[in-house]
Amino acid sequence: GENITVQELAEKLKKTAAEVIKKLMSLGVLATINQEIDFDTAALIASEFGYEVELKVAVDKEALLMAEPEDDPEKMKPRPPVVTIMGHVDHGKTSLLDAIRETNVTAGEAGGITQHIGAYQVEHNGKKITFVDTPGHAAFTAMRARGAQITDIAVLVVAADDGVMPQTVEAINHAKAAQVPIIVAINKMDKPEASPEKVKQELTQHDLVVEDWGGDVIAVPVSAKQRTGLENLLEMILLVAEINELKANPDRLARGTVIEAELDKGRGPVATVLVQNGTLRVGDTIVVGHVFGRVRAMIDDKGRRVKKAGPSTPVEILGLSDVPEAGDILIAVEDEKLAREVAEKRQQRKREEELKATSKISLDDLFKHI
Ligand code: GTP
Ligand code: MG
Repeated sequence: GENITVQELAEKLKKTAAEVIKKLMSLGVLATINQEIDFDTAALIASEFGYEVELKVAVDKEALLMAEPEDDPEKMKPRPPVVTIMGHVDHGKTSLLDAIRETNVTAGEAGGITQHIGAYQVEHNGKKITFVDTPGHAAFTAMRARGAQITDIAVLVVAADDGVMPQTVEAINHAKAAQVPIIVAINKMDKPEASPEKVKQELTQHDLVVEDWGGDVIAVPVSAKQRTGLENLLEMILLVAEINELKANPDRLARGTVIEAELDKGRGPVATVLVQNGTLRVGDTIVVGHVFGRVRAMIDDKGRRVKKAGPSTPVEILGLSDVPEAGDILIAVEDEKLAREVAEKRQQRKREEELKATSKISLDDLFKHI
């Protein structure tokens, strides 16, 4: 970390060296005027004198690290849309995702390893679409709580035999709050009791007026079971993507969001990341939340090792020193020292928070027993 001498600290705090030494002594630290003390001790002394040095420095460094460079408009290239599937329990989200994946694997991939990495890409008419396979609004709540937004388009699955249900409404509200366009997939059309008109009517009560009712919401009848309507759904996703002119600059250091992460027995910490801007490469130095690392290897959604991953590409990365959390921002960096420092600061902050939480619990427990 960083060190500062007692003399320098005293000057910064507009105190005498003697005052600082006395304060250090009161904390059980014996130091001379030219002695170096570490940054944390210095921050503690500063806070004892009523300053908030540590916080300010830490925030500045984080801001410096996280600052997103302006992209040259010339370098912006169209990128695939990132789609999340949402909807009420049992309305067919997983079935729909599976049906899309299975009907769109190219010949070479069929029968190959279908690795589950929490997201996948399909190609339709030569254009890619990225599907994020997180349970519905977890993608929104956990991620949005961290200020991360990964979704460009929400596909709202509504079972034609069941209609709009509480979690359908929740999903609508999440998508609206995030200002993400909604495409409705009216699923289970194969069922005899399917009633798409009832679904459309119920949707209007939540300000989603479909096109054939005079509104601008696209609704596509599908059956995940019989695999009908899927092409049309993909078509509509690409249409909405085109209207929204989704772009990114592949020609810069990567920035992305963790979709899921775990500690793998054999491979160590593994994180599935959605690259949102720039290109991530093997060998890149990265900071992911409180974790520092270097990309040792990357694996795509088809289980293949890849050397680079561009915008809207989901990829599994190896080489992290610890397990990050879903929603953490990944950034590839040039300034390794700064990156390491910020990661360390975050780690420390995390530990402190955990410690606070633990001591709070034990205190509560204590009172419970009195
Ligand atoms: P949760 O993850 O529990 O919220 O459910 P889900 O929305 O992922 O639904 P899932 O895909 O698990 O499907 C729920 C049930 O509906 C399963 O029994 C599916 O086989 C059935 N199902 C899904 N899609 C269709 C469809 O198009 N037609 C029919 N008939 N059944 C379907
Ligand atoms: Mg499911």
